[in-house]
Amino acid sequence: MKAADVKKVAVVGTGLMGHGIAQVFALADYPVAIYDKDPARSQAAKAGIGRNLELFRERGLVTAEDAQAALARLRPTASLVDAVGDADFVMEAVFEDIDVKQQVLSEIDRVAPPRTVLASNTSGLDVNRMGPATNRPDRVIVAHFSNPPHIIPVVVVVKGDQTSEETVGLTVDLLRKVGKYPVVLRRHIAGFIWNRLQYAMFREAVGIVEKGIASPEDIDMVVKLGLGRRYTTIGPLETADINGLALFHQIAQYLYPELDDSKGPHPVHSRLIEEGANGVVAGRGFHDWSDGKADAARQRRDDELIRWLKVDQGKAKSAQ
Ligand SMILES: NC(=O)c1ccc[n+]([C@@H]2O[C@H](COP(=O)([O-])OP(=O)(O)OC[C@H]3O[C@@H](n4cnc5c(N)ncnc54)[C@H](O)[C@@H]3O)[C@@H](O)[C@H]2O)c1
Repeated sequence: MKAADVKKVAVVGTGLMGHGIAQVFALADYPVAIYDKDPARSQAAKAGIGRNLELFRERGLVTAEDAQAALARLRPTASLVDAVGDADFVMEAVFEDIDVKQQVLSEIDRVAPPRTVLASNTSGLDVNRMGPATNRPDRVIVAHFSNPPHIIPVVVVVKGDQTSEETVGLTVDLLRKVGKYPVVLRRHIAGFIWNRLQYAMFREAVGIVEKGIASPEDIDMVVKLGLGRRYTTIGPLETADINGLALFHQIAQYLYPELDDSKGPHPVHSRLIEEGANGVVAGRGFHDWSDGKADAARQRRDDELIRWLKVDQGKAKSAQ
């Protein structure tokens, strides 16, 4: 089966990630069945997608007609059989727990047609532990969307040892068709790419706080107004090529031995958790999040990411 043969999509697990993923497929003209073990959540997902689409319309990313048509393509259902019984591609986005994933994939496997590809949105679980829970390990793959999935363009695809090349090809082509930029990992590696990079930087950032060298505000500022701005157009390896590999080689020799290599979370991180300062949910973490500051930060993030989506959309139109 090829991407062109995919006519119907199902999303199983419609929480934070599942609803955004369903939106991506619905906006790209696919009828999408959405199922959650808690039926109220699939209804809530459709309502949430309605709000996302309204924001897209306000920002000029979609027309009112397109938004309405996408919403009409979403079909919440309280039955797993109904959701996946005639789906060609199923996205699984249930809790990040290998037992739950294995059980859900095995249930889907029993009721979905043999041709159907099952893609997991896991953040880091091993696809090689998921495929064998089904009778179709050649059709099980990871397609890791990042949050918010309807706004972040890149999707990391992970091939399991038993995943067929046909499944990899179909998944990559389908993701491109819905406007995403897939990157394929040829085998499982903990943290895929995104979290390896994110946590390498996080470890260093917390290490600097731990040593009392700079404040969380200043460290975040270096990323937001420095590294982050550059990384929207030039990746770390492109940067090295542009600045010169000999220079990076020289700096690596004296800097690598100095970099944080903690083998577990830092004491300052553990202490914050012990104090109940668990971040936004508690109103305090590395930063103060009282008085609606978190909503404002999320709004800033989504506004900026939507601005980038418009840039991508403009580029795609001029390439046509
Ligand atoms: N939250 C993130 O930033 C993020 C980013 C990338 C990937 N992911 C991954 O996406 C997946 C989903 O994460 P989330 O943040 O959307 O979680 P979530 O808790 O918001 O949603 C999970 C949903 O799955 C449903 N569910 C649980 N068991 C089920 C079952 N047996 N059958 C059907 N539905 C079931 C729950 O009712 C819930 O609605 C996880 O694997 C997670 O690691 C999350």
